[in-house]
Amino acid sequence: MILEKNARYTSFKLTRAAAGAAARADEGLIEQQCRLQTLYRGGMRQLCAQLEFIDDQFRAENDHDPIHHMECRMKTVESILEKAERHGLPLTVESIRTGVRDIAGVRVICNYIDDVYRLAELIMARDDLTVVRVSDYIAKPKENGYRSLHIVVQLPVRTSAGTTEDIPVEIQLRTVAMDAWASLEHEMMYKPDRKAVEIDRMKLKICADELAGVDRYMQEIYKQLEPV
Ligand code: GTP
Ligand code: MG
Repeated sequence: MILEKNARYTSFKLTRAAAGAAARADEGLIEQQCRLQTLYRGGMRQLCAQLEFIDDQFRAENDHDPIHHMECRMKTVESILEKAERHGLPLTVESIRTGVRDIAGVRVICNYIDDVYRLAELIMARDDLTVVRVSDYIAKPKENGYRSLHIVVQLPVRTSAGTTEDIPVEIQLRTVAMDAWASLEHEMMYKPDRKAVEIDRMKLKICADELAGVDRYMQEIYKQLEPV
């Protein structure tokens, strides 16, 4: 199952900042970036199709679906410009192409931790995409407890003019439990009208660590069910 999310703002502050960046950007850049969105969306959908195929093949060979479901989303042009500005990048198409790697994003939610790594291996072994960066926040969780395996890939997308463009897509691989935590943490921490106090962060970190324990336990239970 793939869910495609329409980009929407969740934070009033962010909307204002984004409007600011877009207001300061050159009109030509905005037009070019809007045109590029189609290519990024194409890359994202191409990657989703490849991942579905990997899942199908895996099921056929192992009688197990590594993917629980997938979500994909595109950053809006406003939020791309806002991120570029926040990271101090020059507001040009080229610097955005190399500096903002998550314009197109695919989140792959897996059943078990082993599935995350099996999928990552299968993705990285493909010769129809190039791995640009891997950040393993499962082996080394972020300080707040965030866990996920991030892989930025680049894949060739055919344009209507018959040329090929290499398009980066950020893949986030995580278990159902890691996804539940990240969604709730995001919801709690990024509400503009709420204060993120230190105790909340500590409690959230405890939840993340407990869920990681549950993930390991569920993995063990599942392993016992696997045919010998
Ligand atoms: P960004 O400017 O956040 O894109 O930084 P980055 O390019 O260095 O990427 P990083 O690997 O830190 O995070 C990329 C994405 O992972 C974010 O846009 C979120 O979707 C997700 N993410 C990273 N850290 C957290 C976190 O602490 N909580 C939640 N809920 N999501 C996170
Ligand atoms: Mg990001």
